[in-house]
This record gives sequence, structure tokens and C-alpha cells, in this order.
Amino acid sequence: MRLPVRITGVGGYLPPRTLTNEELAKQVDTSDEWIFSRTGIRERHIAGPDETSSTMGIEAARVALASAEVDPADVDVIIVGTSTPDGMFPASATRIQHGIGATNAGAFDVNAACAGFLHALSAGAQYVASGSAQRVLVIGSETMSRILDWTDRGTCVLFGDGAGAVLLEYAGPDELGGIDSLLLRSDGSQASSLYADGPCTPALAGARAEAHIVMDGQAVFRSAVTGLANAAADAIAEAGLSVDDIALCIPHQANVRIIQAVAKSLSLPMDRVFVNLDRTGNTSSASIPLALAEACATGRLQPGDRILFAAFGGGLSWGAAVMQWSGVRAAHASGVPVARVTGAPTTA
Ligand code: COA
Repeated sequence: MRLPVRITGVGGYLPPRTLTNEELAKQVDTSDEWIFSRTGIRERHIAGPDETSSTMGIEAARVALASAEVDPADVDVIIVGTSTPDGMFPASATRIQHGIGATNAGAFDVNAACAGFLHALSAGAQYVASGSAQRVLVIGSETMSRILDWTDRGTCVLFGDGAGAVLLEYAGPDELGGIDSLLLRSDGSQASSLYADGPCTPALAGARAEAHIVMDGQAVFRSAVTGLANAAADAIAEAGLSVDDIALCIPHQANVRIIQAVAKSLSLPMDRVFVNLDRTGNTSSASIPLALAEACATGRLQPGDRILFAAFGGGLSWGAAVMQWSGVRAAHASGVPVARVTGAPTTA
């Protein structure tokens, strides 16, 4: 069933500091050749000492609102997908609400690991489709660098920081836009293949919490390919469309080999698949809205195009959605502003 919801604004934020594979190779036993050939990643962005998921989310949200030409006071709900909030509470969404001056908005976080944006989009779309909210900001923002074990070469080379945001509004029956299908899936029996403990984990109670990502890379790789391919195929079928109708697939940016395997399984040519992970690494919940912002800013999307989103992450949690691109109100205002800073990273 088509949800009458369109994206009217989109924005992204990447912290200025970059960390290249060569720089990582000075810290752990790895190489640019190994990382690039196994993952497709060349570099990632690392949050500065004062940056958090909420400060980056504020930057992305401001761009999204500017590109939608919407005043922050007119936002009704803010939903933030993040697994790296500033703290246990309050929700990063409320910090973003204050930061952008969304004085009339309710705000909350959702945690579905790397699939966080798709889950937040699902929740936000229901508000707009039901008429209980007119404008919903959906944000994915992550500070993955703070939950990495920087001595574990199996995980620290994969992730990066950043934020992306979209504004959702009603799409009338005669207007472009609309979510054709959106499905979410989960399998908690595989929780141990990708997780990060935290201050409430019993084993860490009373101790200084050391939360970092633990991953069985090969198991996650296999589950990701199967989960993404099945969810994407189901979402296309549920939309009553075929792969030929998909103008651009914007998948979660974890590993280009995962993306290529999914595209092959769908018989979707890679020139209709958006990939920017070479410059971002895996930014978890931020990856799809960041990629969407870049696709929009670089002219990869035309009004009327069908987009396929597909996301996968810890949980395991995954899903896919098909929606029609309506174009944003002020395309010149969207995109991924980033000032490049050279020099040694301080976080790693
Ligand atoms: N640099 C160099 N060598 C590395 C390395 C690195 N950064 N990380 C692991 N290795 C080594 C391993 O220690 C292993 O060495 P060994 O054979 O001497 O034991 C060897 O490379 C092969 O390891 P393996 O885990 O089999 O590599 P792989 O081909 O499966 O690639 C991943 C590892 C992590 C890149 C891959 O499994 C992957 O991308 N998985 C999905 C991860 C993901 O996307 N997670 C997030 C999902 S949202």
C-alpha cells in the first residue's frame, strides 16, 4: 500500500577530519591494499573532540530544512536513528531539537544499529501518512569512532562518523513522491555476531564501561548479502514493480563486495547503485541519508525516479524500501558540506 509521504529536504554532514587507510596502517597491522580490496574503503571521517552524534545531526538537519525551505518551528517530530547517542539519555533527538530551534517538535531516538535510518524512516512515514504530523525530520547520526577498538584491525578499518537527514511531508494523490513499500526484518538469535556492550551490560556493571564493537566478519557478511537481497526483492515485488523500474539503489554503505553481491542477486547493474563508502566508510545509521544527500547534490536523481533503499546491521536488523523521488524544494541547498582538514587524526 502506497504511503503518501515524500522527501522534501535532504542534507548531510561529514566531520572535517579524514583518516586514510595509509594513516591506519601506521596504527594497526593492515594496508591500503588489504582494506580497499576487501571493503572498497579508502578513507573515513572522524568526529572532532567536541563533535557528537547530536552536533553532527544538527548540521545535517539544518541543511535538510534549508533544502526543504521549512522553518524549524514548523517541524512536528524529530526521530534520530543512532546507536552512538551522546549518552544513555536524554535522547540525541532532543539535543538536536534544541540545537536547530524546533520549538514545537517531539523528539526521540531509535536504535536498529546500521539499519537505524530505515527504522526511523518507517516510524516517521507513519506519522505523516496518518495525518498526526505534517513535517517529520528523520536523521541518522553516528560517532562510530568512539565505540571502536582501535587495536582490532578486523573492525576499526570499517567504520566512520557522519550524519544525514531528510524532511518528510505529505504527498498528495496528484503529487510525486510516495513510499511504495517499506519492510523491516530482524533476527535476535544472531545478536552475538555484531554487538557493542554498554554501561548497562551486566558484565560491565560497576566497572568502567568499555563499549566497543565486536564482530564475526564472515558471518555478518553472509547474513548481510542474503538479508539485503531478499528484503530488496520483496520490497520491489510488494511495490508491484520490477528491478528495471529502479532508477537508483541507495544501499547501506558497509562493504562494496556486499553491495556488488546484492546487486548481482537482483540483476541490478552497478551503474544504478550508489556507492560512496570509499570516502566515508560504514557510517551506520547515517550512511543511507548521507548517500542520498550526495546523490541529490550530484544530479543522480530526477523527480519521478524510483529509489530502492536497503539497510542491514546489528540485531540483526535489516529491511528495504521503494519510494518515488519528488525532488527537494531547494536542491542547491542540499548536499554534504565538508571542509577537508589534513593532518594526523587525534581520535584514532
Ligand atoms: N588488515 C589486514 N589483515 C586483516 C585485517 C586488516 N584490517 N582484518 C583482518 N585481517 C586478516 C585476518 O586476521 C585473517 O588473517 P589470518 O588468515 O592470518 O587469520 C585474514 O585477514 C582473513 O580474515 P577474514 O576475516 O577471513 O577476512 P574477510 O575476507 O572475511 O574480510 C571483513 C574481513 C571484515 C572485511 C569482511 O568479513 C566483512 O566485510 N564482513 C562484513 C562486515 C560488515 O560489513 N559489518 C558491518 C555490517 S553493518
